[in-house]
Amino acid sequence: MAVVSTSLVGGAAAVASQLTQFSGLRRSFLKLDTSNSNSTQAFFQNVNSHLHLASSNKGCRGVVTMAGSGKFFVGGNWKCNGTKDSISKLVSELNSATLESDVDVVVAPPFVYIDQVKNSLSDRIEISAQNCWIGKGGAFTGEISVEQLKDLGCKWVVLGHSERRHIIGEDDQFIGKKAAYALGQGVGVIACIGELLEEREAGKTFDVCFQQMKAYADAVPSWDNIVVAYEPVWAIGTGKVATPAQAQEVHVAIRDWLSKNVSAEVASKTRIIYGGSVNGGNCAELAKQEDIDGFLVGGASLKGPEFATIINSVTSKKVAA
Ligand code: PGA
Repeated sequence: MAVVSTSLVGGAAAVASQLTQFSGLRRSFLKLDTSNSNSTQAFFQNVNSHLHLASSNKGCRGVVTMAGSGKFFVGGNWKCNGTKDSISKLVSELNSATLESDVDVVVAPPFVYIDQVKNSLSDRIEISAQNCWIGKGGAFTGEISVEQLKDLGCKWVVLGHSERRHIIGEDDQFIGKKAAYALGQGVGVIACIGELLEEREAGKTFDVCFQQMKAYADAVPSWDNIVVAYEPVWAIGTGKVATPAQAQEVHVAIRDWLSKNVSAEVASKTRIIYGGSVNGGNCAELAKQEDIDGFLVGGASLKGPEFATIINSVTSKKVAA
């Protein structure tokens, strides 16, 4: 399962440029003494110790990562956007797009349009909800149950999205309960995590992500049907995408967390996708990163051809492999 990453190698010059990109995540990265003749090796030791990665015994080449073995996964989160007409146009764009076969593709329309989308979209693309209730339906005004989502043909639900955490006020335990219930009903969970800008700047990115991961782990019966979406909050809807190295760094850490806290098998199998200002122009570089197993896309998923470009960025991954 473990493979040697090629994404962080390339000599001292590349090391120096990588260092600036990690700024704000782990401040001590910046303290590396680059005057040391063995600075490349020192850098990797530093990365390994901070990411708590298994060390490589296979020579001095690089960082050991545990790249995922799951199929590339791209989700389109339409959020609270669209009308019957605009959604009908988007669906016909998606139906006529040519999509690579080795990608799982999911779209998450607003609840009120799920039925319309299910009845008009190609079966090639699965449907997700953007939220669900924590348990069986009943007297819960304004909520939508997992049973109802299944009735409409939803296979997935997005949970823990930062807009629900930070605008609506959902907490880790509430989100964990929803995830457990949805999984128990056979609905897959796109489990979002991610840090605020101030948390990144305070060097707390890993702490925040691990705490959110733990809340899922404490609640769910199994990881078989979970895709983890790492979405730094400062990158969502801002046009400020994480650099490939910034995203890769957190993805490696999440995979390592899964390995240590769940199992090596789950760490390998679980897709860890990136979200936050992904578009047709930046997806290829992100997809090349070894631990980026796909994307959760907001704004750019509202344009059929651009979303297709993002889905097809799996080809960059194959070239990089
Ligand atoms: P964005 O949203 O692509 O518009 O930044 C991503 C998301 O919220 O999932």
